[in-house]
Amino acid sequence: MDSILVTGNGPLNGQIPIAGAKNACLTLMPATLLSEEPLTLTNAPRLSDIKTMTALLQSLGAEVSSLQDGQVIAMSSHNLTSQTADYDIVRKMRASNLVLGPLLARFGQAVVSLPGGCAIGARPMDLHVEGLEGLGAEIELKDGYLHAKAPGGLKGAVHEMRFASVGATENIVMAATLAKGTTVLKNAAREPEIVDLVECLRKMGAQISGEGTPTIEIQGVDRLHGATHQVVTDRIELGTYMLAPAICGGEVELLGGRMSLVESFARKLDAAGVSVTETGNGLNVARKNGRVRAVDVVTEPFPGFPTDLQAQMMALMCTAEGTSVLEERIFENRFMHAPELVRMGANIEVHGGTATVTGVESLKGAPVMATDLRASVSLILAGLAAEGETTVSRVYHLDRGYEHVVRKLEGVGARIERIKGQ
Ligand code: UD1
Repeated sequence: MDSILVTGNGPLNGQIPIAGAKNACLTLMPATLLSEEPLTLTNAPRLSDIKTMTALLQSLGAEVSSLQDGQVIAMSSHNLTSQTADYDIVRKMRASNLVLGPLLARFGQAVVSLPGGCAIGARPMDLHVEGLEGLGAEIELKDGYLHAKAPGGLKGAVHEMRFASVGATENIVMAATLAKGTTVLKNAAREPEIVDLVECLRKMGAQISGEGTPTIEIQGVDRLHGATHQVVTDRIELGTYMLAPAICGGEVELLGGRMSLVESFARKLDAAGVSVTETGNGLNVARKNGRVRAVDVVTEPFPGFPTDLQAQMMALMCTAEGTSVLEERIFENRFMHAPELVRMGANIEVHGGTATVTGVESLKGAPVMATDLRASVSLILAGLAAEGETTVSRVYHLDRGYEHVVRKLEGVGARIERIKGQ
């Protein structure tokens, strides 16, 4: 298995291009199932999660081609042969469950494996099921699979979610585009990836309003048509690389970045003493004087501080002046990076969903192991700021969500290389 070797090397300077959003692409791809006409996505990220979604759609009979070195994904669902998402694919990636709403809406039936346990918590699907049942679906759990039916088609309804789940919002919105009548989804998630999905669905002929607010209204239509859509910038990749100059010092411009995607995060960086400004091409992040200050963080649904940047922010707080409290409210078990950071000399105490981090003057390189995608990149950030060498193993997690991580960080002066495993 490959690993990444990082050697602390002082301030970083230059530019990093930010890719299209993994999480947007993973919901835009299943949207192809809603129409028999082609859907083409541009600005797609080159990631193993995208390959997994490609394999899933192909297993359903969709045609999926990767063009222009993977940045364009051309899809067609004119000849689907199956409505079953198999456990073998779903277990690899929870976002596989996003085929449920589209399949059910277009074919009146779908069978989707439950994702099963995951390293960052139980991650059930009750909110997806409740929402689709609200649209008239009958859903049964048999042999680890959700068997969903809507024999007379889905019907628009008013549904309020108990929690603003991102995936459940996406599944319900996609399903409602082809339901009869109007659906009002209350307490919907407001993430930019949902806004991006709605913009694409609208290009396909869907009638939707209110995306980006807690109430989304969908007027069902008989059919959707083809479209071409550019995937929104990845705000988590953006936030991750904003932390590179924050933790190492220096000044980096994140090309394609926008403040509106990372406002709550940028406010925390500002409070920590890191400057974030918009440029014509993206965001400029600079830390010029001394150590950052400790700040407290609570993860929340958008527009709050994203859970997907908590691990990376913890790496920064490990080197801050003072003590910070990081509270994880979205997922249980999302502090698996903490013991690894401690191996690098960090001072962290975890109690339940709260981590208390007392900054140290410098971290020390060490062999560490990543347990999930965001944890692995937080260890790379820590390695960039540490004295000596850090080897991060289990890099396959990183390949799920960060394209060309070595090239992007090398481009701003980091000493980083991928070591091929035996
Ligand atoms: C998406 C993102 C993920 C991010 C998360 C929260 C994708 C592909 N992934 O995941 O990177 O960390 O949003 O911003 O977009 N829950 C339930 N029942 C459900 C659904 C969710 O209890 O039916 C719980 C989950 O266990 C979790 C919380 O709700 O504790 C948030 O989950 P959700 O917003 O659904 O996240 P995902 O869509 O899975």
